[in-house]
Amino acid sequence: MSQNAVEHPLWDALLEDLKEASTLARLTEIRDKYLSRQRGLLTLEMRRLGELPRERRPEAGRVLNQLKQNIESELDRRQKELSALRREAQLQSESLDVTLPGYRLPHGGIHPIHKIQKEMENVLVGMGFTIVTGPEIETDYYNFEALNIPEGHPARDDQDTFYLTGGMLLRTHTSPVQIHIMEAQQPPLRIAVPGRVFRRDSVDATHSPMFHQLEVLVVGEGISMAHLKGALEVFLKRMFSSETRLRFRPSFFPFVEPGAEVDMSCIFCEGDGCRVCKKSGWIELGGAGMVHPRVLEKVGYDTERFTGFAWGMGIDRLALTRYQVDDLRLFFENDIRFLRQF
Ligand code: DAH
Repeated sequence: MSQNAVEHPLWDALLEDLKEASTLARLTEIRDKYLSRQRGLLTLEMRRLGELPRERRPEAGRVLNQLKQNIESELDRRQKELSALRREAQLQSESLDVTLPGYRLPHGGIHPIHKIQKEMENVLVGMGFTIVTGPEIETDYYNFEALNIPEGHPARDDQDTFYLTGGMLLRTHTSPVQIHIMEAQQPPLRIAVPGRVFRRDSVDATHSPMFHQLEVLVVGEGISMAHLKGALEVFLKRMFSSETRLRFRPSFFPFVEPGAEVDMSCIFCEGDGCRVCKKSGWIELGGAGMVHPRVLEKVGYDTERFTGFAWGMGIDRLALTRYQVDDLRLFFENDIRFLRQF
């Protein structure tokens, strides 16, 4: 409502002030300067109306009221203008160019040991096995005694085992899970047990105090060495290639009889000999055998009726071989530059 222009020095002063008012804060200061209830210049002017001769008061009052309206509407106009400008600037500064390439988020990968473990599990599930796990902290009984590893056996040496307080220890292999499962279930059994195991080894390119094993156990009626060999062969061919061959070397493990060490033909040279298999053509996988009757007895199985086979293999070394990594430590340092390659 500033249509009715009014000649007044305050109006000119206001316009002058507004020229340099470029922020909303400054505008508020100007509003106060003219309109503040206490000391606004216009307020003071209005208060002085009473000092005028009576006959001049109505006209002067009308002028001041109009002036007040003009000032208010001018300030409002300016405020809208500045708000719009500020919003504009804000939009400018926050504008997005949706055609710009995005930031690449750093990402890791599935850990190579986990990856190969999952592959093993998948193959075994496909063969009818159930995946189970067991405790990493064990008693002497499960880790040794029940597996027919008597007192004084070198495997019990303080050198190899991490002993905890209260007669507990860190399992040195996944074989104790065989006992847990057999205690809880009757045959037939077909289980596979991946997990971490611990030994007092010093760290080097092929040793770590913590590593991974995969244990397999089958118990039932009429289970023989032929089943062991057949199952291992199917497993290895599905894991690696249809060309992969298997070799048993007679060996001793207290919880199996007979026992064997298992090798597979090198997955890189197929047996010809290369850097990976150290020219031998074979890669060591682990141990296997027919479950010792004394182990079956310990869990109360009828050894006249049931027989079983078991095998246990290292997961870490298979991962080293599969991915042609030559230092186990790389798997456990968790440097993302290494891990993201898998
Ligand atoms: N538990 C043995 C170890 O860690 C490996 C092993 C050997 C497991 C023979 C088995 C087996 O199931 O039958 O050295």
